[in-house]
Amino acid sequence: MVKGFSALSKIICVTVAMLLSSTALAADERTQNAVEARQGLLKVVRSYFGPIYAMAGGHIPYDAEVVEKNANAIAALLPMIPDLFRMDTSGADIPTEALDGIWDNWEDFAGKAEASAEKARALAAAAADEEAAKAAFRAFGGSCSACHDDYREQD
Ligand code: HEC
Repeated sequence: MVKGFSALSKIICVTVAMLLSSTALAADERTQNAVEARQGLLKVVRSYFGPIYAMAGGHIPYDAEVVEKNANAIAALLPMIPDLFRMDTSGADIPTEALDGIWDNWEDFAGKAEASAEKARALAAAAADEEAAKAAFRAFGGSCSACHDDYREQD
């Protein structure tokens, strides 16, 4: 009887230990997914940003249609930043350039995402006039840096 009970409690202990470690794994996986999703969003932002950047620098010919389309796409993507950074990953052992200050200054961080989206809309609206668009692009590019300066690890 006593022997049977101890065998049972051993099974229970092993089961509980397995459950606990799988819960820990699931939590790590959720954190990993959250980091990958937010980095993925910013990679998409970069792919729309790249051609406009190359045009502003005179590396490829100016194309108003592409500028308008890409700036509008970025204006739609940037408001997703607060959604995708909602999980506080400070202290998590996962490679990320996101600084812990994001979650201590959440309103400021989210405000910078909206301010950048606003600049992207202004660029889309100015696209037809190349000179105006270049000025709007400088302001827009500055809005990416305004957030990176405070909340993204610098190389
Ligand atoms: C509100 C803040 C904020 C704004 C605005 C913002 N970023 Fe970022 N960006 C970040 C943070 C934080 C990271 C680091 C994310 C991580 O590593 O988890 C990042 C990372 C990136 C990355 C690297 C993605 C990767 O992991 O490969 C690129 C590229 C990028 N941003 C481009 C831009 C561009 C272009 C703009 C402007 C159109 C912009 N970002 C606007 C906060 C911002």
